[in-house]
Amino acid sequence: MKLYFIIFLLCSTISLKAQTNINLVPMPAKINIGKGNFRINANTTIVLEGSGLENTAAYFNDYLSKKYGFTLKKGSKKKDGNAIVLNFERLDYQFPGAYTIDVNSKEIYISGDNETGVFYGIQTLIQLLPTKKTEHINIPQLFINDYPRFAYRGMHLDVSRHLFSVAYIKKYIDYLALHKFNNFHWHLTDDQGWRIEIKKYPKLTEVGSCRSQTLAGRFGSDLYDSTKYCGFYSQEEIKQVVQYAAARYITIIPEIDMPGHCLAALASYPFLGCNKGPYKVMETWGVAADVLCAGNDSTYVFMQDVLDEVMQLFPGQYIHIGGDECPKEKWKTCPVCQQKMKTENLKNEHELQSYFTQRIEKYVNSKGRKIIGWDEILEGGLAPNAAVMSWRGEAGGIAAAKQNHFVVMTPERPLYLNWSQTKNEDSVTQGGYNPLEDVYNYEPIPKELDLQQSKFILGAQGNLWSEYLMNEKKLEYMLFPRMSALAEVLWTPRNKRNWIDFEKRLPGIIERYKFQGTNYSTAYYDIQPGVLVSGNEIFWKLESRNQDGKIIYVKDSNTNSPLTYKAPVLINKTGLYGAALTDTTNRVISSWIWQKFYSNKATGKKISLTTEPNKSYSMGGAFSLVDGVQNERGMLRSAQFLGFNGKNLEAIIDLGALTEINSISLHAFEQKGSWIYRPASVSFFISGDGQLFAPIESPVKLIGNKNLLYKTLVNLKARYIKVAAKNNGIIASGEPGAGNNAWLFVDEIEVN
Ligand code: ACM
Ligand code: ZN
Repeated sequence: MKLYFIIFLLCSTISLKAQTNINLVPMPAKINIGKGNFRINANTTIVLEGSGLENTAAYFNDYLSKKYGFTLKKGSKKKDGNAIVLNFERLDYQFPGAYTIDVNSKEIYISGDNETGVFYGIQTLIQLLPTKKTEHINIPQLFINDYPRFAYRGMHLDVSRHLFSVAYIKKYIDYLALHKFNNFHWHLTDDQGWRIEIKKYPKLTEVGSCRSQTLAGRFGSDLYDSTKYCGFYSQEEIKQVVQYAAARYITIIPEIDMPGHCLAALASYPFLGCNKGPYKVMETWGVAADVLCAGNDSTYVFMQDVLDEVMQLFPGQYIHIGGDECPKEKWKTCPVCQQKMKTENLKNEHELQSYFTQRIEKYVNSKGRKIIGWDEILEGGLAPNAAVMSWRGEAGGIAAAKQNHFVVMTPERPLYLNWSQTKNEDSVTQGGYNPLEDVYNYEPIPKELDLQQSKFILGAQGNLWSEYLMNEKKLEYMLFPRMSALAEVLWTPRNKRNWIDFEKRLPGIIERYKFQGTNYSTAYYDIQPGVLVSGNEIFWKLESRNQDGKIIYVKDSNTNSPLTYKAPVLINKTGLYGAALTDTTNRVISSWIWQKFYSNKATGKKISLTTEPNKSYSMGGAFSLVDGVQNERGMLRSAQFLGFNGKNLEAIIDLGALTEINSISLHAFEQKGSWIYRPASVSFFISGDGQLFAPIESPVKLIGNKNLLYKTLVNLKARYIKVAAKNNGIIASGEPGAGNNAWLFVDEIEVN
């Protein structure tokens, strides 16, 4: 009997899973699927056995009403069943939020270890509802036992660079709730705008919430939109949002970034700065040199006043005080800051920032709250009770945990969801590359920590910086499906987290986005292009994870007569190559991806470097200089570039045989905002044996001003070519990055 039951369960689990279309995310700890259904309709009653459950019942009814056009009446259990019963049960797990769901033919029982648990049970039930509108909802009979893996399951949103309406912030919070996140980190202030009303300092929003214009192009470009951009949240609105989140068991952690990223505050109250202004709310991205004066006691009075109002509005235990990316140049020359360092016996400016943070911490602690800050707060000594958000990788988090400080992991790779999720350029992003599978496979507990130390890792968080989130659609495009993947990292037991299984659920998860009107990215199914070299020739390699699709391609921009992709495509002429995915009926189901290839005498040839590029910018190796691909969009893609920090480039190409040459060119790039400067000089050499090189005497002409082409015209024969570009050296004062090594970026050598 027992054996039969187990076999039955196994078989039914496999077959019914497919039939019933269960695509829960995050995946519950345990799920057993039975046979048959429970039917929810307008006659189903919702039974509340316990106090405090009205909120969750109302949430469910609101959802049913919006999506299916009916609601459930509250009542008591009936003889014939047809009820959804919410109640409490003791479930012994490490963190609050555990629940069970028992669906039989007559009832659904959702039992939580507290209100939060019941709410999460309802979120799971919502994900079991069909993805089309119907009045007869079938829920498969099943049993779920579920609980969170981490105490802290966070999502962040920056509203300084672009802000979103209160209505949309609520929607964002509902997305978090659906995925069982319990912390919303609201980044409210930064250089580009102050977004929270502070009654004592009205100029923060009168002045600091507006910038005159916004960078319209990529970081480093000079394209602005000439349009004033303003906005902030009133304290009344913030109270509403806090209440809304609390009703979804989500704590909001407000961030008031200090002492750096404060230009909006400085523009409002110039006395806060070292040289007293005038200051301007920042119109571009990056890091501003002007920061709060850490020597002036009135800076602390100001920030304490601000924090008083912030703590009044946000009842959670943590207040985020930023602490990231605070340049120290102004402090070095500020007599007030230098005096403070003397009187407080501080060895350097890092210790001054640490002094600043500790002083703020003391104040926040005195009000019964705690501070959390970005990992820079480790530099110069960690404040005694501070928690750390590790964003520059995991090193800060590891160091903090080893010092018995609580940590939230939010490393840029892979948890910055504003980074690109595809290598095909689909829209402007910060750059970077954090594909879905990297987010899914992220493990918040670093190997470097022992069991005791790892208890300090509270959990992890996805960050969403809004430089390129110009509207809600773009926000959601960046968020989904990566946020769903992160939800599983934070909730599902480690041994239950399974990429293959997630991949199978992904189409169903996407169906739910569609049903809910959520925008999302299908980058995961995009064609993945690559360049291969074989026998002095280059090929375009195309792959897709959509197993049902077929890849087609064209060797020019004419998509009318595409070829079917069978093997990597030989690149034998300069031109625009395109590829797309079709379904079995030859209908194009993806966007076309385009790549311009520059086929020339150097393309695919043997190349070696006699100088070492920086490890972070040498992904494609020396080959990236002869792969036929040039950087044309002003975007830094490490597979196409070599970057040298303070060093020169020297490359030798073997053309394979004595070759007639009419011109040689080097493509370089300048983006001063990123400390990338044009070469000081470029020179070319030739050789017959690869040993002895003679300089080419004809002049090297520079064409272009950001995408730089260094070209020389010749009339000669050679087998070997040497290309040398001299780094610009130490960046001159007055220029971005002054005093540091310049970067030299090169992407292609052309021989014609
Ligand atoms: C950060 O990304 N500056 C925390
Ligand atoms: Zn100062």
